[in-house]
Amino acid sequence: MNTNRLSKTLSDGLNSQMTKEAAASQIYLSYGAWADSEGYGGIANFLFRHANEERNHMTKFLEYILKRGAKVKIEAIPAPPADPTSVQDCFDKVLQSEIDNTNAIYKLVKMSFDEGDWATWNFLQWFVKEQTEEETLALNLLDKIKIAGGIKASGDALYELDRDLEKAPDEAQLAQTKTADNP
Ligand code: FEO
Repeated sequence: MNTNRLSKTLSDGLNSQMTKEAAASQIYLSYGAWADSEGYGGIANFLFRHANEERNHMTKFLEYILKRGAKVKIEAIPAPPADPTSVQDCFDKVLQSEIDNTNAIYKLVKMSFDEGDWATWNFLQWFVKEQTEEETLALNLLDKIKIAGGIKASGDALYELDRDLEKAPDEAQLAQTKTADNP
């Protein structure tokens, strides 16, 4: 009996999204390393925590594919783009990367809808909500940076932003608290 409950199209799409979430994690990691080397420890901390969240998203896709009896394909993760040129450029790129990810999720939602695969459609709704939150977070940060002067933001304004982001709430849990049941 065939125990694979995913179509080939959806299985390929979900696998590719799993790799995309891993790529998003690498982007946050590389921007975090850039921010730290520029002296923005708080921004770096925020970006590193977010890298962790993206890794959680990757795991959610992996577990779902396995749960539906399909094959997981672990593939190469594309290298992150070049370093940002300023704090504003960093968050412009973060927003663009989140929008790209939202568009990829929407394509999967449409595919699952067209196939009538309601289990996958339902699984993806968590990501639809998550993407809205992540875009809002990046947009709010960009607003703050623009108010502070954009690429000409003063050292004081960036210092404050850096301090705020150190403490900004997020959903990422520490890696050591993760288990197979709670990725
Ligand atoms: Fe998992 Fe920010 O997309």
